[in-house]
Amino acid sequence: MEMTIQSTARLNNGVEIPFLGLGVFQSPPGDMTKKAVLYALEIGYRHIDTAKIYGNEQDVGQAVRESGIPRSEVFVTTKLWNQDHGYDATLRAFAKSNQKLGLDYIDLYLIHWPVKGLRLETWRAMEVLLSEGKCRAIGVSNYLVRHLEELLDHCTVIPAVNQIELSPYNYLYRKETVDYCRAKGIWLEAYSPLTKGEKLTDPKLVKIASKYGKTPAQILIRWALQHQFIVIPKSVRRDRIRENAQVFDFSISPEDMAYLDSFNENLTTGWDPTNVP
Ligand SMILES: NC(=O)c1ccc[n+]([C@@H]2O[C@H](COP(=O)([O-])OP(=O)(O)OC[C@H]3O[C@@H](n4cnc5c(N)ncnc54)[C@H](OP(=O)(O)O)[C@@H]3O)[C@@H](O)[C@H]2O)c1
Repeated sequence: MEMTIQSTARLNNGVEIPFLGLGVFQSPPGDMTKKAVLYALEIGYRHIDTAKIYGNEQDVGQAVRESGIPRSEVFVTTKLWNQDHGYDATLRAFAKSNQKLGLDYIDLYLIHWPVKGLRLETWRAMEVLLSEGKCRAIGVSNYLVRHLEELLDHCTVIPAVNQIELSPYNYLYRKETVDYCRAKGIWLEAYSPLTKGEKLTDPKLVKIASKYGKTPAQILIRWALQHQFIVIPKSVRRDRIRENAQVFDFSISPEDMAYLDSFNENLTTGWDPTNVP
C-alpha cells in the first residue's frame, strides 16, 4: 500500500503511531510553536514530538485543542527529563506534563535519557501510568543495547519505541541498536533526521537530491521512512513544514539507499549516549 502523511506503524501494544511527526525541540515557547503545530495539523500531520525540557508543552497542547481535530486523531509524545527520575518523581513529572499539555492523556511518554541510577524505578512508574490509561504507550530515548538489555531484564512492559539520532551520517554507528530493537519488536524513531541542518549542503547528498528532483531534507526524511523509522523533522517555518511532508510521491532506489547508508561518519549532533553506563 502507498504511504501517506497519515500512514501509521502499529506499536507492540497495538497502538498506531503516524510515521511522520513534527519535532518541536528549540521551537521557541509561545506563538511560534503554537503556529507551527497548528499549521502542521492543518496540512495533515497527526503526530507532534515534544518534551518537558523543550518548554513548549503548553503551546503544543493549545494548538492541538484549537485545531479542531478530534483528540483521538492526533498523536502526542512528551518525555521525562533527567532530574525527574525515580518512582514518585516520575508520577509527579507526568502529572505536570499532562497538565501543561491539557489533552487529557498523552499518547507516548518517553524516558528522555538513560540516566544511570534510578532508571529502572522510573520505568516501573511508567508501567503504572500505562496501566492506569494515563498514556497509551511508553518508551525510551537514547537507549543503546546495554541500556535496553538492562531494562528488558527487569521490565514487565517492553518499551514500544526507542527514539535515537538517525540519519545516513550515523546509521551504521547505531546499527547494533537498530537491529536489537527490531529483534525485540521495539520501533525506532529517528530524531535529528535532518542532522539539525548540518549536512544539508553535503555535495553527495545534494547530488542524490537533484537526481530525484527533491530537496536534501526530503531525501533524508524519505531515507528514514524507507528504513521503517518513525521520523520527526523539526521546523517552525511553514514552507519547510510543508516541504518535509512532501515525501510520499517518490521512492529512493535500493542502490541509492545503500549509497546513503555509506555516508556514515558516526555523526552526533546532540549528546552521544555511547559512554553512559
Ligand atoms: N530524544 C532526544 O534526545 C531528541 C534529541 C534531539 C531531537 N529530538 C526530537 O527530534 C526532532 C528533530 O530533531 P532536531 O530538531 O534536533 O533536528 P532536525 O529535525 O534534524 O533539524 C532541524 C533544523 O533543520 C532546519 N530545517 C527543517 N526543515 C528544513 C528544510 N526542509 N530545509 C532546510 N532546513 C530545515 C530547522 O530550522 P527551522 O525550524 O528554522 O526551519 C532546524 O534548524 C526534535 O525537534 C525533537 O522533537 C529528540
